Amino acid sequence: TSGPTHEPIDPVRYIANRSSGKQGHAIAAAAAAAGARVTLVSGPVAIADPAGVTMVKVESAREMKAAVEAALPADIAIFAAAVADWRVAGAADEKIKKTKSGPPTFSMVENPDILAGIAGAASGRPPLVVGFAAETEKVIEHARAKLARKGCDLIVANDVSPETGVMGGDRNTVHLVGRDSVETWPELPKDEVARRLIAAIA
Ligand code: C5P
Repeated sequence: TSGPTHEPIDPVRYIANRSSGKQGHAIAAAAAAAGARVTLVSGPVAIADPAGVTMVKVESAREMKAAVEAALPADIAIFAAAVADWRVAGAADEKIKKTKSGPPTFSMVENPDILAGIAGAASGRPPLVVGFAAETEKVIEHARAKLARKGCDLIVANDVSPETGVMGGDRNTVHLVGRDSVETWPELPKDEVARRLIAAIA
């Protein structure tokens, strides 16, 4: 695992957070349809680029942070990406071969928190910063804590426990959590969650 400090291009093996990108893409599409000028910064996904948005494609948390900063200034910033909290320290340049000495061990280093960085920026903070919280228990309580910790204005909290089918699915049940407010929406297609979110934000 020792290697150069730059990021490998198209790694053979990698560690990532699971995400289809469907909800984030739907939000970008809904914002564009509502008349906003939209930049969508997306990690690797298997879905089409939404119409009417400027796409920026990235492969790592650090690339995503740079792309988000380059997209500022913005009136509204929405952070729907499932960014990995950690990355492998010193990613290998070549495919790591299977050897008789057994499986490799990896040490991890923390990735930058893109949302917290932008929400807490001393200058250039977008007037409205919206984060997401994927939770498997105590969804609203954890979302409230996250709102305070990250310094954002609104959190879209969803329950991603396996029985919900939210991950990779086309439907979502969310709670819109503000500092002193909670709105719980019924289970809806992700497109409709996106439209309602843009309407609420507007
Ligand atoms: O801490 P957690 O990952 O649960 O927080 C989720 C929110 O923080 C999402 O809005 C996600 O896009 C954002 N996030 C980020 N950078 C990270 C981790 C999460 O912007 N490294």
